[in-house]
Amino acid sequence: MLPEKILQSAADFVRERFAHDSSGHDWQHISRVRQMAVKLAAEEGADLYVTELAALMHDVDDWKLTPGASAEHADKTPETRRFLQSIAVPQPVIDQVCDIITRLSFKGAGVATPMHSLEGQCVQDADRLDAIGAIGIARAFAYGGAKGRQMIDDTVEPEMHGSFESYKKNKGPTVNHFYEKLLLLKDRINTESAKRIANERHEFMQLFLQQLSAECRGIH
Ligand code: ADP
Ligand code: NI
Repeated sequence: MLPEKILQSAADFVRERFAHDSSGHDWQHISRVRQMAVKLAAEEGADLYVTELAALMHDVDDWKLTPGASAEHADKTPETRRFLQSIAVPQPVIDQVCDIITRLSFKGAGVATPMHSLEGQCVQDADRLDAIGAIGIARAFAYGGAKGRQMIDDTVEPEMHGSFESYKKNKGPTVNHFYEKLLLLKDRINTESAKRIANERHEFMQLFLQQLSAECRGIH
């Protein structure tokens, strides 16, 4: 199959696979990550085909989302492999894509898995950019709502939102996720192209948090 056809088949597969997701990994997330990853890849001189394919497939084997899957499972990307083999993607491309996805999905589990390839760095940056800025704010509150979490914990002072103790104690009202993770992402970006975007989105989140805090305290 031609690369364009492969990308089309992968897009169709993933659109169908995530059609009913409401955990923040819906098709629109995949679609934004795909678009951003390709844009970054073009600017950075990465291979566009591998980048786009990896971006499309990046959440298919997320063990947090797959019933029965686990972080300890030996092959971290069984479904991705199966699908790419079924549409006859060349084995070296499958290996590249699966390596990227394996490294991507363990970022949050406390295991540092360096992203060596430029293509992987573009996909990782695109995924991280989708967790910050206006879209990141929307996703965080959508996720928190889906998990039955409070938006803002009114038992703690605004300054306490950043403390890990308050986070654990209160099982994490969504606003704490900004301090625990989202505000840290701009310093974990790989590529220069993505850093510029991350800085803007970071400032926007800070502005949002200031305004949120002011409104909650009855100042504005
Ligand atoms: P990824 O898409 O990189 O795999 P995650 O699965 O960790 O990211 O999270 C998906 C979305 O849900 C992201 O936008 C993330 O910020 C948000 N999210 C994850 N954990 C929390 C949380 N505890 N509170 C609020 N939002 C969260
Ligand atoms: Ni993702």
